[in-house]
Amino acid sequence: MQNQLVLLLKNRRSVLSKNLSEPGPDEKQLKTILEIAARVPDHRKLEPWRFIVIQGDARKNLGGKFCAIRLQNYKLTSEQISAEQNRYNHAPTVVVVVFSPVEHKTPVFEQLLSCGAVCQHINLASSALGFNSQWVTNWCSFDKDAQKELGLKPHESIAGFFHIGTASCIPSDRQRPNLDDKVNYY
Ligand SMILES: Cc1cc2nc3c(=O)[nH]c(=O)nc-3n(C[C@H](O)[C@H](O)[C@H](O)COP(=O)(O)O)c2cc1C
Repeated sequence: MQNQLVLLLKNRRSVLSKNLSEPGPDEKQLKTILEIAARVPDHRKLEPWRFIVIQGDARKNLGGKFCAIRLQNYKLTSEQISAEQNRYNHAPTVVVVVFSPVEHKTPVFEQLLSCGAVCQHINLASSALGFNSQWVTNWCSFDKDAQKELGLKPHESIAGFFHIGTASCIPSDRQRPNLDDKVNYY
């Protein structure tokens, strides 16, 4: 079991959201993913994050809403319009991780680190359950109208959209950091 876990951690690879499709996690599996995501180091137990789950028809609805928002400020080709409208129609489940910092003596920087850990736990938990996933921000994460559509409060921001599903093929690996350049011993 331990070797399997190490292998999973060493080999996990993100898959582009447009290459994800059914099957995705069922209700119980999604609960497991979110339980694992929420089980992260969190200095002084502030829980400075929350989740928004997008599934079924809500995916199409959100893509349409975001496309309309984009068209308010940008001229898009028909291909771009189609891509915007279908942004969430590929993976069966999309989880938005919302960074929701609290006023506290624990610095916001630490709260953000905890939120980052939540994010990667979603990727890892999804992999452990046999799914593929991708962490995506894109323009939608930073657009005020898109944030409003998702019900974010003014102090909140989007850490990422996690597309979770199954890939028909896994991309070849990308170049990984050379640890010789990254590690020093003091
Ligand atoms: C905060 C954050 C935002 C990202 N946003 C995007 C994005 O908008 N579009 C994209 O193609 N990849 C994005 N990525 C990169 C992918 O999630 C992923 O890291 C990359 O495809 C390589 O994945 P792997 O090392 O897990 O295989 C983002 C990564 C992070 C950490």
